[in-house]
Amino acid sequence: MSGKPIKDMIIGTMRNGPETLKELEMAKKTGKDISQERDVVKKKVAQYHPSVLHLVVSEIEAVSPIAKRIRLVSEDGYLPPFEAGQYINVFCEIDGVRTSRPYSLSSSAKQRAFYEITVAAVDGGFVSGYLLQCLKPGDRLEANGPAGVFHYHPVFHSKKSVFLGGGSGITPFVSMIRTVLESGEDREITLLYGSRTEEAAMYHEELSAFAKKHSNFHYTLILSDEEKEGMEHGFLNAARIQAHVPDILDCTYYLCGPAVMMEFCRKALEELQIPGRSIRREVFGTRRDIWNEPGWPEGMTGEEIFHIQIGEKQIEAKSGESVLTALERSGVRVNVCCRSGECSLCRVQLVSGKVFTAQGALLRYADECFGYIHSCKAYPISDLELRF
Ligand code: FES
Repeated sequence: MSGKPIKDMIIGTMRNGPETLKELEMAKKTGKDISQERDVVKKKVAQYHPSVLHLVVSEIEAVSPIAKRIRLVSEDGYLPPFEAGQYINVFCEIDGVRTSRPYSLSSSAKQRAFYEITVAAVDGGFVSGYLLQCLKPGDRLEANGPAGVFHYHPVFHSKKSVFLGGGSGITPFVSMIRTVLESGEDREITLLYGSRTEEAAMYHEELSAFAKKHSNFHYTLILSDEEKEGMEHGFLNAARIQAHVPDILDCTYYLCGPAVMMEFCRKALEELQIPGRSIRREVFGTRRDIWNEPGWPEGMTGEEIFHIQIGEKQIEAKSGESVLTALERSGVRVNVCCRSGECSLCRVQLVSGKVFTAQGALLRYADECFGYIHSCKAYPISDLELRF
């Protein structure tokens, strides 16, 4: 029999036995009751980094003919802090399929009474269609985050920020602009926003009003598909950036928008000899036409069907859809957050077979060595066997 006192043996078998013994010991030695501090750190961490956010839709409002802002409050009474520019990953169950999409927060990081996300219609968009057509105030949603590294750094980035946005890529900038201007931060912002038409431009009125009120915010809307008096027409090219940003080498550049626009801006900044360290890019989901990405296997159309084996289960997957999409559609639960190859949450081990890895998958060296893939950025190009 152990030499421990019987009381210690009994308490030691309790759910919180070890903590209770420690607290009794401390009380005996110092007379101090530390039981009130139990799990304080754990509770604080859970409050700042909850594994799930339980959200309720408080308001929905159109911000353009194809986009709505959705305001979300916390069912748990507390929304964690975030950096302006970060996103949350919103989960939905649609026709029996549980999936998710990351949405940048567009609300100011200086207030957390609500989070605001902006959802724009996308051709054939599975989740955006559901959120725009079916969601109503009072509905409940789950999300994880806030997450992401697309935000300005008050120390390491220039005080002169140039935001190059396109389409719904405006949303993280709206959060950054609101945060800076509403708090009176000492920062100069130039926003060049590309939109097909004036009507399709999101937050145009609010941004115009901000530009009138704040001398440190300069806003230009550039329309690609229509010409309007007093507005610029064309694309976000090098000449246009130079015309609006006099001290081009003294700024930090932030890019967010559709893949084509991002590539266009990347080339423009290269032409202007902006160093890579002064450029920040938001990852923007996975492309819907992956077969057009450089390196895609010749002769494959994106329509080929392959089989994926996961333990005893076998599912079908299309080459043009990510492994993650195939898994979700078959009811396999995968941890996800960014859906853009950045967070590593969706990684699975590839036991056999071949995948095409899309650009932007930030796979860790160790993961690569042990055959892990980011399922959100991997496309099946043969039959696969996966292990979780
Ligand atoms: S969900 Fe983040 S890397 Fe795939």
